[in-house]
Order: sequence, then C-alpha cells, then structure tokens
Amino acid sequence: MNDQAIGIFDSGIGGLTCVREMNRLLPHENIVYFGDTARIPYGTRSRETIEIYASQDIDFIRSHNVKLIIAACGTVSSVMGSTKNVGGIPFSGVVIPAVQAACAATSNGRIGVIGTPATIKSGAYGKAIRTIRQDCAVFGNSCPLFVTMAENGITSKDDVVVKEMVKRYLAPIKKENVDTLILGCTHYPMFSEAISEFMGEDVTLISSGAEAAKYAQSILTMKNMLCDSEEQGKNLFYSSDSPELFEENAKMFLGEGLCGNIRQVTTEEMIGIGNSLTK
Ligand code: DGL
Repeated sequence: MNDQAIGIFDSGIGGLTCVREMNRLLPHENIVYFGDTARIPYGTRSRETIEIYASQDIDFIRSHNVKLIIAACGTVSSVMGSTKNVGGIPFSGVVIPAVQAACAATSNGRIGVIGTPATIKSGAYGKAIRTIRQDCAVFGNSCPLFVTMAENGITSKDDVVVKEMVKRYLAPIKKENVDTLILGCTHYPMFSEAISEFMGEDVTLISSGAEAAKYAQSILTMKNMLCDSEEQGKNLFYSSDSPELFEENAKMFLGEGLCGNIRQVTTEEMIGIGNSLTK
C-alpha cells in the first residue's frame, strides 16, 4: 500500500478528463496535476519540441515524489511510444489504454481516431491498434482547433462554431462507417455531446483520458500500490499560465466539489524544480 500521489500532466486542461475518472475510480488517491497552459498547444509543434516539453513536465511531476506518472496527453503519449517507466517510476500514456478499449468495443473492425496534428502524423494509434487486431481498418483525422476552443470554454453542442468544426473534422471519418471513435486527444471528450450527435448514437466514443485512468488503476492494483487511506484524496493542480482561467475551466469540467488547490508555477520555476531533481 502506498500513500504517495499519482502524477498526471497535460499541455492544459485536457488531462482533467483523466483526473475526473481517477477521482471516480480511486477516490482516496491524492493527485498532483500539471497543465502547461503557458506553452499550449503542443500538438501543432515539432516532435523535437514536444519531446523537450514532455521531459520537463515529467521532471517537474517527478519532483512531487509520485508513485505513478500519467501523460494525460495524446500528443506526448504518441511521441513517447511504449515507455513503461521513467526514472524508476511506472509511467503510462493514453494510447495503449485507448486502443485496448477500442479494439474491445468495435464490432465491424472499423475504428476512427481523431487527435492533434502531431498525434495523427505519428500514426501511433494506428500502429498500436494493428499490434492488437490486424484485421481492423483505421481512419484518422486531426482537429487542430479543438484544443484552443476547449481551453476557452467553447464546447457546447449548440454552439455554432462547435457544430461547424465537428462537421468539418468528423465528416471524412463518418463516411467510412466506423462503429468506434477514439478521442485521441484528452481535450476532445469536452466535445463528446456534439461529436456523438454528429456521428450517431451507435458509434462508441472512447475517451483516451478516462481509459488511461482505468489502466492506471490496474497498474496500481497489480503492483499493490493503491492508497489505503479512508479519507477523500486531494487534488493539487499546477498551471503554468493564469490559474484563474484554469480554475474556471477545471470547475466547469470537474465540478465544484471535486476541485482542489490551484497554484501557478511559471515555466522557469517549473524547469528549475525539475532540474534540481535530476542533477
Ligand atoms: N490534451 C493534449 C492531447 O491530448 C492536447 C495537445 C495540445 O496541446 O495540442 O494531445
């Protein structure tokens, strides 16, 4: 049994889709979350830049003495491949958990994947699907504006901009008759209602963040590392840009009762804290 926190990070608020599921599944666990809102978006940047940001985020999260690290970011997960631990700490991205869920859910073997440009360019979801089910056909598309829209609270299914962008990004996938759609960026479940309305109720949506939380539960259970406290776990959030905007979005998404403390850490501070750990 282990009372250390679980470390979760993303480029912004998208990883809260993982935190929400984690709070539901493992309510006694403490969580340290970092949202790199000062440098978002990651998904339109080069692989080299994403690797540098990911390694700085991981070092910052590691400095909080965590027992498990989750990259609740499809972009970072796609770039990091099948990494299973960092600095001796168990590590998981969102690709494998989401792909396992999608392969189990599909009946017709036709799976759609949406993600950031870097994620779709990496082909990480398609490669992972083919290691589990060679018979599946995979149809991907990138949705570059979704992250910015989500970070600014533009997610309602009735919003004209949301409707238009969902149609534009999802139409090429809908016509392929997929029965399962991986929301390969952790921000995208914020558009679930709009996406579901457009794709039709028969299409199963897979939230990569929520699946990563389930996967984390199984890792911790297997390693006998779950927290044995009876008390409600605490969420501690860090954002590298405005904590006010982060708080507004987090509350909208997690609900008042589930929110924890939010602190700002500048990019320089964050890098400095991570460096002091590794040197
Ligand atoms: N939530 C991140 C992901 O899952 C968004 C990446 C970005 O910042 O563009 O890919």
